Amino acid sequence: MSIGTIMVIGAGQMGRGIVQVAAEAGKQVRWMDISSAMLGKGIAYLDQQLERSVAKGIRNQDDKSAILSQVQLTASLQEASECELVIEAIAENMSVKQALFRELDEVCTEGTILATNTSSLPITEIAAVTSRASHVIGMHFMNPVPVMRLVEVIRGLETTQTVYDSIVQLSLELGKTPVEVQDFPGFVSNRILMPMINEAVFTVYEGVATAEAVDTVMKLGMRHPMGPLELADLIGLDTCLAIMDILYEGFKDSKYRPCPLLRKYVKAGRLGRKSGQGFYTYT
Ligand code: CAA
Ligand code: NAD
Repeated sequence: MSIGTIMVIGAGQMGRGIVQVAAEAGKQVRWMDISSAMLGKGIAYLDQQLERSVAKGIRNQDDKSAILSQVQLTASLQEASECELVIEAIAENMSVKQALFRELDEVCTEGTILATNTSSLPITEIAAVTSRASHVIGMHFMNPVPVMRLVEVIRGLETTQTVYDSIVQLSLELGKTPVEVQDFPGFVSNRILMPMINEAVFTVYEGVATAEAVDTVMKLGMRHPMGPLELADLIGLDTCLAIMDILYEGFKDSKYRPCPLLRKYVKAGRLGRKSGQGFYTYT
């Protein structure tokens, strides 16, 4: 059965994109964030994205209003009880996510599916703090969500086939290609991507080349659409570091050791585009 009502938790860059594609696909969306300022910025972003599609002639003002009317902002987690699915897109931190899933488990009705957009954390460990491990699943979108067509779908140890099938169907309805991936740190995407980004940071740290030179090599030499350090700034350096820490901790293998320069930037508050400075400066 098709999922019609979704709560998205988190109004950062991933939450914004997920809300956009869900509303554009005709879903009713409740949108929650602990920060009302982030929710305000999120809805302004959605308005701007839809306005651009009107300017391009993809839709008209009535379509835009209809899509916006499907999105309701809320400060209350309680409203998750009225949704068939919750998609969590908050910080990449196990204890923060587990605390949220504990609360969600209490407020949601029995059949509600709880999905996490985690980049790298074990789904089974998030599910274990709930009384509904059968209804917890990983639904990993890529950034920027409206553009990137992949969704990694990750079952926890107890996730049922019915729940898996519902998330695969929803991914298709959102215009994405779902790919099943097993529950190991970083799944497939970040197990492969993030060590490359980390190596790019080491290359700068060791003085082999500047950030601009590293990015130019990878764009012109390997046809990557963005250089690894531009991409790190897009993802968020805090998220990149969290993922490297999770890979390092999860596999206990020194090949995943986060570069000290990455940690230094995060400690200094250089988080990439979202803070205005990372490997590059944004105005
Ligand atoms: N939100 C919505 N749409 C966006 C966007 C954004 N943030 N950024 C770009 N777009 C859209 C533009 O509107 C444009 O659409 P139209 O063609 O309809 O006009 C289209 O994307 C192309 O944009 P641009 O021409 O401005 O720029 P580009 O051709 O350089 O593409 C890009 C931008 C799609 C971001 C491209 O550079 C790219 O693919 N970069 C790599 C992205 C990537 O690797 N993402 C994965 C990150 S890892 C991850 O997500 C997993 C994780 O857990 C960390
Ligand atoms: P972000 O820092 O841009 O936004 C996180 C948002 O969550 C903020 O608005 C914050 O106020 C909110 N938040 C934090 N704790 C909360 C709570 N307890 N309840 C409600 N809201 C809360 O982060 P992001 O880049 O959107 O990443 C979100 C998740 O998606 C992370 O797990 C990340 O690993 C994953 N992810 C990120 C990317 C990426 O490229 N950035 C790609 C795929 C997946």
